[in-house]
Amino acid sequence: MADSSFPRHVAIIMDGNGRWAKKRAMPRALGHKAGGEAVRRAVQAAEDLGLECLTLYAFSSENWKREEDEISDLMNLMRRFIEANLQDMIERKVRLKIIGDYKAFAPDIVEKLEGALERTSGGERTLAVALNYGAQQEIARAARLAAEEGAITPESIEKHLYTADLPPLDLLIRTSGEVRLSNFLLWQSAYAEMLFMDVLWPDFGEEHLRAACEEFAKRERRFGGR
Ligand code: FPP
Repeated sequence: MADSSFPRHVAIIMDGNGRWAKKRAMPRALGHKAGGEAVRRAVQAAEDLGLECLTLYAFSSENWKREEDEISDLMNLMRRFIEANLQDMIERKVRLKIIGDYKAFAPDIVEKLEGALERTSGGERTLAVALNYGAQQEIARAARLAAEEGAITPESIEKHLYTADLPPLDLLIRTSGEVRLSNFLLWQSAYAEMLFMDVLWPDFGEEHLRAACEEFAKRERRFGGR
């Protein structure tokens, strides 16, 4: 993007799959499936808009509390997403990054994820996916690692966050109208702009990401100089 006030790193709390399905009298699984299609659109839109990094909250450490069937639907969606998109990501030079304790997932998913991490490692832009992620857990882990090396300071903690190699978070979006952070990127949000959008995640498209980035650019121009 030519405009230097455009965001480099956008993160999204993808919320509203269940409500989208309910509105259509469909099972929640179909809401998640439609959510998976919105993920594909968002990744494409991020490329078109020239973002360096898109971070998506796909499975929180609290999501294990959901019904077993729903967890299994989400896991299957993940398996299919990797299978269907890996080649495309390699060709488009998108590097996959995972934030969170993904090793708690089923061995076949861990294997697929690690294969995808390796095969996309040369990518120029990043799709970071939060899997079994919780920000408080991330900060506690980083503080523990920092303490093992010496002093605990904001810098020494930051160095051990999952996001240490990503550009600073510019914009955090949550869909579905809920106004909460739900244990997502709490440290990284310290200086980020936030946008709570009244659209259910399965309805999210290029126009929403574009509008969000334009809103960010407007705020930057008004309050810039940070
Ligand atoms: C929130 O909707 C969404 C989730 C908990 C899961 C997000 C996962 C996806 C969008 C698809 C899989 C992602 C990848 C990267 C393949 P909700 O169920 O909390 O909705 P509700 O609040 O309306 O019930």
